[in-house]
Amino acid sequence: MASSETAQPAIAPLRYDPSGVMIEKTGLSPSDLEALAPQLEAARSEVLADLELWHSGKEVPAEKEPLDAGFTDLPDRLLKAYEEEGDESELGQIIAAAKRISSKVDRVVSLGIGGSYMGARALMEACCHPYYNELSRKARGGHPRIYFEGNNVDNDATQGLFDLLGREGTADSVEDQWGIVVISKSGGTLETAVAFRQFLSLLWQSCGRDGDCVAELVVPVTGEGGKLHQLVTELGCPDTFFIPDGVGGRFSIFTAVGLLPAALMGIDIVKLLQGARFMNQLFQTKSPGENPVLDYVGVCHAMEKKHGADIRLLSTWGKGLEAAGMWYDQLLSESLGKEEQGAMPLTVVNTRDLHSRGQQHQEGKRDKLITNVIVEQWKRDRLAVGHSDYNQDQLNDLAAKTLPEIMTAAIQGTNTAYHEDGRPTADLIMPILDEATMGQYFQMMMLATVVEGRLIDINPYGQPGVEAYKKHMKSNLSS
Ligand code: PA5
Repeated sequence: MASSETAQPAIAPLRYDPSGVMIEKTGLSPSDLEALAPQLEAARSEVLADLELWHSGKEVPAEKEPLDAGFTDLPDRLLKAYEEEGDESELGQIIAAAKRISSKVDRVVSLGIGGSYMGARALMEACCHPYYNELSRKARGGHPRIYFEGNNVDNDATQGLFDLLGREGTADSVEDQWGIVVISKSGGTLETAVAFRQFLSLLWQSCGRDGDCVAELVVPVTGEGGKLHQLVTELGCPDTFFIPDGVGGRFSIFTAVGLLPAALMGIDIVKLLQGARFMNQLFQTKSPGENPVLDYVGVCHAMEKKHGADIRLLSTWGKGLEAAGMWYDQLLSESLGKEEQGAMPLTVVNTRDLHSRGQQHQEGKRDKLITNVIVEQWKRDRLAVGHSDYNQDQLNDLAAKTLPEIMTAAIQGTNTAYHEDGRPTADLIMPILDEATMGQYFQMMMLATVVEGRLIDINPYGQPGVEAYKKHMKSNLSS
């Protein structure tokens, strides 16, 4: 691939604006944040030193284990390899596999849980048509419909999806054929493994028990040597992607875990990585005060320590960011919710949740920091309320107002109401909901999480607490 295709394009930057936190008594002052700058810079240096240590292959000191710092410069490395090696590179191969599968099937079941699922779903909601799976194949640009399963053990949901999938000898018709992307780093997660067995059994039927057909329609993304790797080797799947060592599950969106499903949906994964690489540049070069990662961490940390704001609301405005918020819920919870520390993340979708959670955010306990996620530019033309001969709803006065104008009035009105009651807010401003923006968002939040971990002396990698439930579930199943 020619280098000009991946050279860093002009990217509209995602911006972090903490001015709504600077309110009297219950908020922060600029000097609070200035005082934190040396600690933030030290935490950044530690994150960059972690990356160097990880690359060096030297022994990792016990207190740093596990050290999954490999995500940090992954976008830069993938893009560089794509420029140098083109189709032979990891990115080139992901794009080729997505093209191959798209040409053969109209539905893909993507199996995975936690970090092996949430990022791809976030990308679908943010970057695809809001009703993507309902569109015709043509309107989807020839890309398959995507269904996320293997993220639960829900009897009815599993069989509900079975109902949509062809069973008998459908392999000859693209419209009727379907495939599986199975994603599990460990290769042993029960929810995903059970779902894979069940959907694979259905795929055998659909392929008329032709082993070559099955192997071609299953694309695994896994760690080397695990049970899933062994199984798909036996199946003979031609495209198997490996999740590199040193990239943890919830940090794996820029591996095939996130990139393959994204490419299958027609998302431009090169632009996505360019957005992430751009965030890396900001993170490494900008000082506190103009560094979105360090500023976000500084405000969150200071609000928690000074005002006990240990609930972090990601208040998304619009419908495209709910799953991106849930991706962050997992990232923060599993990374910093350790040793009785770590703030509690909560995603809300407004204006919807103003009618459910809004009351509590306005008048409940003063334990929340609200970060608004605001998209500046909508993708479609502005839709007006419209005039009607039936004005019983009395909306004709608003006939010329558009949905974006109503949204802006809601955002401003809500935040004015919060500030009047001394409830601090910050804004994360996204220029437009596209690949370059989402790349910046994911990388910003991953970097912020590890920086905060180093700041509060919590290892952001690993999730030892998740093992406890698994142990009991296993013993319940064997009794
Ligand atoms: O962040 C993590 O590591 C976890 O959330 C994992 O992604 C999740 O448990 C799924 O694990 P696996 O990919 O091994 O099936």
